[in-house]
Amino acid sequence: MSSLDEKGRIAANKSLDQMTLVDMDVIGCPFPAYEKLRHEAPVFKDPAGFYVVSRYDDIYKALKDTATFSSDSLVPREEYTRPTQYGGLEQVDTMITSDPPKHRYLRGPLNKLFSLSRVNQMEAYVQQIVDELIDSFIDDGHCDFVKQYTVPLPMYVIADQLGVPRADLASFSRWSDAFATLVSGFASEDDKIYAAKQIVEMQEYFLKVIPGKRKNPTDDVISDLIQAKMEDGQPMRDVDILSSIHLLLTAGNETTTNSMSLAMRALIENPAQMQALRDDPSLIDGFVEESLRFDGPVQGLMRRATRDTEIAGVQIPKDSLVNLRFGSGNRDETKYPTPEEFDVCRKHQVTHLAFGQGTHVCLGASLARKEINLTFATILRRMRNIRLVNPNSEHVYERNIALRCLKHLQIAFDKA
Ligand code: HEM
Repeated sequence: MSSLDEKGRIAANKSLDQMTLVDMDVIGCPFPAYEKLRHEAPVFKDPAGFYVVSRYDDIYKALKDTATFSSDSLVPREEYTRPTQYGGLEQVDTMITSDPPKHRYLRGPLNKLFSLSRVNQMEAYVQQIVDELIDSFIDDGHCDFVKQYTVPLPMYVIADQLGVPRADLASFSRWSDAFATLVSGFASEDDKIYAAKQIVEMQEYFLKVIPGKRKNPTDDVISDLIQAKMEDGQPMRDVDILSSIHLLLTAGNETTTNSMSLAMRALIENPAQMQALRDDPSLIDGFVEESLRFDGPVQGLMRRATRDTEIAGVQIPKDSLVNLRFGSGNRDETKYPTPEEFDVCRKHQVTHLAFGQGTHVCLGASLARKEINLTFATILRRMRNIRLVNPNSEHVYERNIALRCLKHLQIAFDKA
């Protein structure tokens, strides 16, 4: 057991009145704390100011009940206007912060762009990026898997889908990180100001791109957004398009990056599972689902109670923030036998909550699955003896209660 896991276990041994999700030891390894909460306080009032829901069935029910558990507070609303203080436009709701029926209009135009059939057509193109990135470090015998692979891959894919140059990757990365900070649960006043400035920079960048695409639409997401109609039959305004672009940049990057970093960590720490996958490559789909269940990048997201309500017998007053812990539901022993085991042959993994469920279920799930699948199928073909460069050093995670973000993963390998 790593020292990080050990610290997570110690944190979970604290009494409930000393427990909080914003404890860095819990963030480093949240699973023992989740187990305690599921058993002792499945709906827990965190001293940080929100309720934590940790059992699979309770999370699932809340996700399906959008009338009671609204998404309108997923991003703190006071942050919508902050960009205007720095010369930018006010941010507006996107699908992820909207409830039905408005949600349908905001999601509709983008649905088909990331459908399974469209993603299947993208396979050769994604495979090419996968190979190019691996080519860039395979002769070195080592790499920072995060910096050199899992960050650029989804970023290139989204940049191409938006129809903007990959050369601007560093900017996309900053804009995407700005959003991650806002949902981290740790954003200081300085962080919020920094995030607002990044959003303004992003707005200025895309406001230069939109007029050209309005005049000469091309086969990309921005052109599709320009042609989409809102609930009143009117085209999307620039602010709607900008907020949707920001959502895609952020929802599709940080998540896919971390899903692959965490999957690599799980494989290295479970060599028998890595061998099973090498021996039978047809297990790859099961591996993708199991890695998302076992250690997914979205640990939990906020909802707001629209009325006085109750979950598992605990009263929740109107306007309370409720944090649905997907990462805990995915380790719920009533749903998954031996949940702490990483098992690529596990049955029914696809029920996991890593992509959410219901109205807001991940729009990019097919694309993310394709990227993870091609990544590991290729890596297992091209690399042998994959290992950590420093097996005894601690993994470092960002301070973030919503997303599980591994900062680096130094790996070594032999070229196959
Ligand atoms: C492994 C990678 C990914 C994971 C784990 C993930 C996870 C999630 C989760 C948990 C939600 C539900 C949010 C909620 O219930 O409030 C979500 C929604 C969403 N995701 Fe993903 N995501 C991933 C990749 C992507 C990609 C690649 C894209 C875009 C290309 C994307 C775009 C979206 C969008 C637009 C939503 C909002 C859907 C809605 O509100 O209707 N995601 N994602």
